[in-house]
Amino acid sequence: MRLGDPEVDRMRGLAEAACRRAYAPYSGLHVGAAVMVEGGELFAGCNVENASYSLTICAERNALFQAVSAGHRRLLAVALYSDTPVPLVPCGACRQVLAEFGPDCDVFCFSPVAAPAHFQLSELLPVPFSLRSHR
Ligand code: THU
Repeated sequence: MRLGDPEVDRMRGLAEAACRRAYAPYSGLHVGAAVMVEGGELFAGCNVENASYSLTICAERNALFQAVSAGHRRLLAVALYSDTPVPLVPCGACRQVLAEFGPDCDVFCFSPVAAPAHFQLSELLPVPFSLRSHR
């Protein structure tokens, strides 16, 4: 998958719309995410903060959990949209959670003005924690 592909544009659109629904009264940082699962279906989510700050959920995990809750297990791509001068990259916790379902997925990062960025999750988290080799 590449920047400029129609499905990446669709993911960006969903992530941007989700970003507008972010609940971020504490940090002021609005983030939206869209994930694509095997078969091409898309799911979106935004960050949802809480007065007890550590209970906050990031946009990427929210979007992924929607997909998993709908029965999907194979993540192909993630698009992240933030209202920041440069695109945000997924935090470490989200990288680990994304790797559970899509260790080889594409990660696209968008913001309103700056050029978008494209990574492989395996670049962002080369050695995820896994129990597979320990069981
Ligand atoms: N946030 C995300 O939604 N995704 C990330 O990958 C990093 C951080 C949110 C969580 C919190 O609401 C705000 O950004 C500031 O950390």
